[in-house]
Amino acid sequence: MEVKKGMNEKEIEDYVNSVLKQMSLEEKVDQMVGNGLFIKVVEDRGFGKRVYDATGSKKFNIPPFKFTDGPRGVIIPGSTCFPVSMARGASWDIDLEQCIGDVIGEEVRAHGGNLFGGVCINLLRHPAWGRAQETYGEDPFLIGEFGAALTRGVQKHNVMATAKHFVANSIENARFKVNVKIDERTLREVYLPHFKRCVEEGCATIMSAYNKLRGKYCGHNDYLLRDILKGDWKFQGFVHSDWMYGVKNTVGGITGGLDVEMPRAKYYKYRKIKRALEWGNISQAMIDEAAGRVMRTILKYNTKKDSQTYGQDLIGCEEHRKIALEAAEKSMVLLKNEKNILPLDKNKINKIAIFGKYAKVKNTGDHGSSNVRIKKVITPLEGIKEYLGDSIEVLHNNGYNNSAIKLAKKADVSLIVVGLNHKDEGEYIKELRVGGDRDFLSLHRKDIELIKAVSAENEKAIVVLIGGSAITMEEWKAEVPAILMAWYSGVEGGTALAKILFGDVNPSGKLPFTIPKDPKNLPFFDKNADEIEYGYYHGYTFFDKEGYVPAFAFGHGLSYTKFNYSNLQFEIKEDKVIATVDVKNDGKKAGGEVVQLYIGFEQSQIERPIKLLKGFSRVSLEPNEIKKVKIEVSKKNLAWYNPKTKSWEIEKIEYTLYIGGSSKAEDLLSTQFNLNI
Ligand code: BGC
Repeated sequence: MEVKKGMNEKEIEDYVNSVLKQMSLEEKVDQMVGNGLFIKVVEDRGFGKRVYDATGSKKFNIPPFKFTDGPRGVIIPGSTCFPVSMARGASWDIDLEQCIGDVIGEEVRAHGGNLFGGVCINLLRHPAWGRAQETYGEDPFLIGEFGAALTRGVQKHNVMATAKHFVANSIENARFKVNVKIDERTLREVYLPHFKRCVEEGCATIMSAYNKLRGKYCGHNDYLLRDILKGDWKFQGFVHSDWMYGVKNTVGGITGGLDVEMPRAKYYKYRKIKRALEWGNISQAMIDEAAGRVMRTILKYNTKKDSQTYGQDLIGCEEHRKIALEAAEKSMVLLKNEKNILPLDKNKINKIAIFGKYAKVKNTGDHGSSNVRIKKVITPLEGIKEYLGDSIEVLHNNGYNNSAIKLAKKADVSLIVVGLNHKDEGEYIKELRVGGDRDFLSLHRKDIELIKAVSAENEKAIVVLIGGSAITMEEWKAEVPAILMAWYSGVEGGTALAKILFGDVNPSGKLPFTIPKDPKNLPFFDKNADEIEYGYYHGYTFFDKEGYVPAFAFGHGLSYTKFNYSNLQFEIKEDKVIATVDVKNDGKKAGGEVVQLYIGFEQSQIERPIKLLKGFSRVSLEPNEIKKVKIEVSKKNLAWYNPKTKSWEIEKIEYTLYIGGSSKAEDLLSTQFNLNI
């Protein structure tokens, strides 16, 4: 038997079974480890410069997997740098995310890779989490849809996608040690659904998390890896560890169901595995299972016929930059816009002054494993200058001195570009002195002072926020007329910003998380915790339950036009609830709206959130245009997990169907429906 393109599942299965019969133990163990010297690579600061080999066998014609990372693009130099995942989550545009996956898949292949480690779908439990920017938001449904879309796009190019970090990895500094206590419903209903969604989408591999869950490291956690992932969900791919180091001992990893130790063999060494087998601590079947899963998965992807070629010219090309631009345009969220100060009218301005630490800086986000190294990044200042040409005078001052005040006085409009960078938040890598969880959720003191000073001189002071998560703003929010959340917006971020400020693009992003007024309204967070309890409520479900009023609600985002909702209807057909609503653009500008569907559980017999996001749809509308928007919710998505019966159950109650432009009660139409199960 030989390995060839176009092998079907049965042929692959037969091949792998026959190889397993011929392989020595040592050869099998080679299928379970990374091949590199990761530590050396970090020291050289060369991490991310090339794809990273693991597993494979020349003798048996099994290709290695060649890993590269993300998620804001492929991390290898020259690749397209997209807005971070959190920004993309704010676009609520699943088709666009799939398209981004498509680009990433092409670029992985052009770099010689076949495995993309960048489907990061951990839940944003608390905005201080350092790696918030790598995921899509606080809601499991939203994250799941985005993770699935990225997986679809990437895997189209026969690149294996890795969903990570499995599971409950929502604190950065303590990630290597923290034990997450969690009850069964919270695990199943809040922390797992998005992983399940990606597995259903066919995601090839899973990366285990560093942290512990219920006292066991996730990489050793047989309940997570064997019972739930490979058992309940019937996951067919393989599980690899996180990198520094996700395996703590040979027996723990192998009995736990972790197939591959990355980035190199420390505990999955031949002699250690041999000894564990001799002592009866692990079984031959476990080794065959791990090696078999790896070979089967790699062959499945490597033998598929490609539908295109993958030349180097694809990497960071103009077409890909255009998609990065579209993502930046669709993701920026207009939080506040008093007296319609935005969009700015070019004809009514002579001078615009731009302040702030990030006006002139290529600030694309984290400097850890998701850092995409690219030279050409359009900063806010460049984007605005390029957009305005010579028509308007653009004054710039980084702002932290007295001359800033003079400038603000002279200008018709002031723009203050402030927020966070890779030192404030990101993957915590001690060696590189970057990242970690945030100690406070507000802006830095000197940025707050800058906002206050400029807004005192210029009533048209617009704040542009850079960051990957919620920033609290109560101290200065009332003093400025407009606030735009611009995120880490990728290679074309400055271009998108200018187009939004001057109205060429109508902002349409909506918050994928809740912004609190006061951090006290959030669940407990301790970046150095040895142990922490993850409760059933966080984000908008927590705010709903406690009756807290957020600064900006989940799903909030303004537009330069106004959308009106009417005529909410539903019908129940077989296994679905089908809702329709008329959305009308009542303003003078074309625009995009994200229609959100929530289900309310007010009549529930058990403890449940007030409401949960269960569907959404993005529409574009011309002035005066009305569209009937249809959103389907499958009945099984209404179920809760009953730990007593160990099954998902659908309550026979009256549910509330909410549809509108944000999660805020006043933005939602509602109706009731019953399910006849
Ligand atoms: C990160 C992972 C990443 C891996 C390899 C780890 O430290 O936690 O997210 O995929 O490094 O880059």
